Amino acid sequence: MTMTSTIDPAFTVGPVNPWLFGTFVEHLGRCVYTGIYEPSHPSADEDGFRGDVAALVRELGATVVRYPGGNFVSGYRWEDGVGPRDARPRVLDLAWRSIETNQVGTDDFLAWCSRVGLEPMLAVNLGNRGLAEAVDYLEYVNGAPGTRYADQRVSNGNAKPWGVRLWCLGNEMDGPWQIGHKTPLEYARLAQEVARAYKTFDPNLLLVACGSSNTSMPTFGEWERVVLEHCYDDVDLISAHVYYEPVDGDEVSFLASSAHMDRYVRDVVATADHVAARRHSSKRINISFDEWNVWFAARHAQHEEERAEASEAPALIQDVYTALDAVVVGSLLITLLRNTDRVGVACQAQLVNAIAPILTVEGGAAWRQTIFHPFALTAKYARGTVLMLAGDHGEVETPAYGSVEQVWAVATYDAESGELAIFAANRSLTEPASWTVRLSSLGDLRLLEHLVVGDEDRNAVNSQDAPDRVVPKAGSSALAGDRLTVTLPPASWHCIRLA
Ligand code: AHR
Repeated sequence: MTMTSTIDPAFTVGPVNPWLFGTFVEHLGRCVYTGIYEPSHPSADEDGFRGDVAALVRELGATVVRYPGGNFVSGYRWEDGVGPRDARPRVLDLAWRSIETNQVGTDDFLAWCSRVGLEPMLAVNLGNRGLAEAVDYLEYVNGAPGTRYADQRVSNGNAKPWGVRLWCLGNEMDGPWQIGHKTPLEYARLAQEVARAYKTFDPNLLLVACGSSNTSMPTFGEWERVVLEHCYDDVDLISAHVYYEPVDGDEVSFLASSAHMDRYVRDVVATADHVAARRHSSKRINISFDEWNVWFAARHAQHEEERAEASEAPALIQDVYTALDAVVVGSLLITLLRNTDRVGVACQAQLVNAIAPILTVEGGAAWRQTIFHPFALTAKYARGTVLMLAGDHGEVETPAYGSVEQVWAVATYDAESGELAIFAANRSLTEPASWTVRLSSLGDLRLLEHLVVGDEDRNAVNSQDAPDRVVPKAGSSALAGDRLTVTLPPASWHCIRLA
């Protein structure tokens, strides 16, 4: 299939939001223990965090990190994770039916964030705890010395307030699986009270109210409306979560998951803007897409039933990602960029071992999964302003989403460096795409690099023995005058750079 489109610097969506490249660390499985933290590992730093993992996290280019959950946060007592490590309790975590040793807690994690250069986004427990504990926690983290909880932090060795700006008011409170699950109204009232207290403490905090856990929740849309009707003036963002997998083997729709994510953004934006209209408000609430990824949930549901006893750092949901999964992740990043004006934060869930771009062996190696590569390339090269492309992008018929564009693309243009980056995915499993891009309004350009992620064997994976089985390779494109011609093999993701 041949198609032609145009990139013009006038087709702007908005500045590239660096917070689109967020990640997520939850006390889940081996994400924290033997993931980012393993004091006995040969690469561990003085605080017990793995150096090999920290190096990969820097290379990934993540900007923001959500912590400590996820479902975990709804049963979490932050007090258990601070102070001398040998005095911290071992507790039962009911979210993941695991033993939590509390050897990593708020101060340890925030110190690690500063070392690796991540902006933390903390979630507070609004599941089995409430307003008072949420406010105590904020004071512990951000309070100036001189009051009870801030002084507790000081005596734990952290004199300076951490200055955490981004806060999630609970997690997936609409989900019956959540500890302390609530009705829309119950959550809306609690979130409003916590948000008001938080903004009284510091009006510059950025607060995320829980949206729906996914679009198939029976209250999707209504939940957002009720929550925002209560909290509109008090919060800044509303959350969205989504995980994709081939349902009943339907890889055609799976490869087009980015079409679903795009519609999800539009639906939540429409709901938030509807509330704004009813309130005659010019304020806009944006989305915190603070959990998204490929997750083979069906596969893990079976394993869950086989798990007997709660243990420390069990190997939970350690998905091994294929070349096809990497193309899906790359195309989801394209959707996030295309919505840079309305997505305020996005966090790929998660960072290490549990549904993650990085896998580790306890005491051993750490390596990049296939999905690491599109994330790292997008985070590195999406700079300046996001540009939409106009033209013909072909069509793919999918069982789940109907007809979607075959080539799913976006561009970023950095006027300062003169660099143009094009990110594109061929969302057909079977058909290659021959694509011409007109660049006439961008002046003289030369092709710097064309990298492609994908594989003739779309089930190819990286492993400890073959960590570089799937890596970005040189793609096929040519620039003649102001015409760029690109060949996109079926199920492939591309990053093309010109300057
Ligand atoms: O990321 C894994 C889990 O998925 C999170 O804990 C939860 O919020 C979501 O359901």
